[in-house]
Amino acid sequence: MHASDSVSQRAASDAHSQETSPRSPRADRDSKVLFSVLAIKSTQTRYDIDMPENDDFWDFYWETRLQPMENLGKRAAILAVSKLIRRLAGQADHPLQLLELGCGEGQVIGTLLDAHSQLCATQTSVGVDYNAQSLAQCKRDHAGLRCIEGDFTDPSLLAGLGKFDIVLLVNALHEVYSDAFSSELGEIDVLVANQRVEQALTAAADCLQPGGWLALFDGLEPAGDPHQLLRIRFRDTQARQGFDTFVHHYQPVRIAFRPVEGPLCVELSLHDFTRYITKSIFLGKRLWESERLQSYQYFTEEEHRAAFARHGLEISELHTLTVNEEKWRALVDIDTPGVRFPDEHILILAHLPAQTDASARP
Ligand SMILES: C[S@@+](CC[C@H](N)C(=O)[O-])C[C@H]1O[C@@H](n2cnc3c(N)ncnc32)[C@H](O)[C@@H]1O
Repeated sequence: MHASDSVSQRAASDAHSQETSPRSPRADRDSKVLFSVLAIKSTQTRYDIDMPENDDFWDFYWETRLQPMENLGKRAAILAVSKLIRRLAGQADHPLQLLELGCGEGQVIGTLLDAHSQLCATQTSVGVDYNAQSLAQCKRDHAGLRCIEGDFTDPSLLAGLGKFDIVLLVNALHEVYSDAFSSELGEIDVLVANQRVEQALTAAADCLQPGGWLALFDGLEPAGDPHQLLRIRFRDTQARQGFDTFVHHYQPVRIAFRPVEGPLCVELSLHDFTRYITKSIFLGKRLWESERLQSYQYFTEEEHRAAFARHGLEISELHTLTVNEEKWRALVDIDTPGVRFPDEHILILAHLPAQTDASARP
């Protein structure tokens, strides 16, 4: 196996852009070494050198390539799918075809195809999104990837696309859920929202070849009693004001709280706290305007497991993770004993058993 020329070019461009921002000495050293390895590769023809592209190589590659995504949870999804691609490519008799539903600017599918262009069929891989602006950027950044504009929960949109080896749903399903906001109710219509998520999972599973893989990365509703009350203490008045902004402008559900013990301490449910803390990093930023409209939470881990089972998908990896706990701790302390910050994200890799086709699924 050989890393593609696009890998070399991307490493060069990353190494360049990183020169302009503060870097750790280790990251500098790593990117220089990686860059020189890839520079050697790019001066050779693809077939006349045999660089060992083992897990160490790819760990090294991704550490540099994903440095700008250091604080983004979806980095975990890219790493997991990169491993999956390398594993499947060893068994497949064809280049792998990828489909991303809700691909946005292509940071996930585009990055994976760039890195694994020798193992994947870029021309027949597809990104779908209903946001024309994001899709235009995706086309600019990832020439060759087929981009389709439309709503991926609409079965007729996906019907003619064929079947894929890997379908990606990265930070997209919570938006499908949040699209069920009802102005009549003044919050998300949960029944409709759950139906929409179910529809989207059906659409995703229908695009899989027998034996194909679904990679899901998204928000997570914490386990436990959502009505459990907890007390939090803001570190300062600015953090407290940020919470007020959140309560007033967060759209998906009405947030309830009760001031206790002075101006910096409030009591609220685990359900509402999870929503606040996972959106707190956007308060005061430009992204808040869109983030305030979306619930990042829709399913617990158990509900995710049950939904995958309903679609005949066998989970082989499931991780929950948090990347922002340090930032959260800078804003609030949890005063209630035994309660800790929630896991923010869930990452699932699941496959459709080889002998099962869509018509045989439950
Ligand atoms: C948070 S972004 C994630 C983009 C990309 N997956 C990533 O991680 O970089 C979610 C994307 O899903 C798209 N999206 C949400 N619901 C969609 C739907 N029903 N049909 C098509 N696109 C959708 C949005 O337009 C947005 O670009």
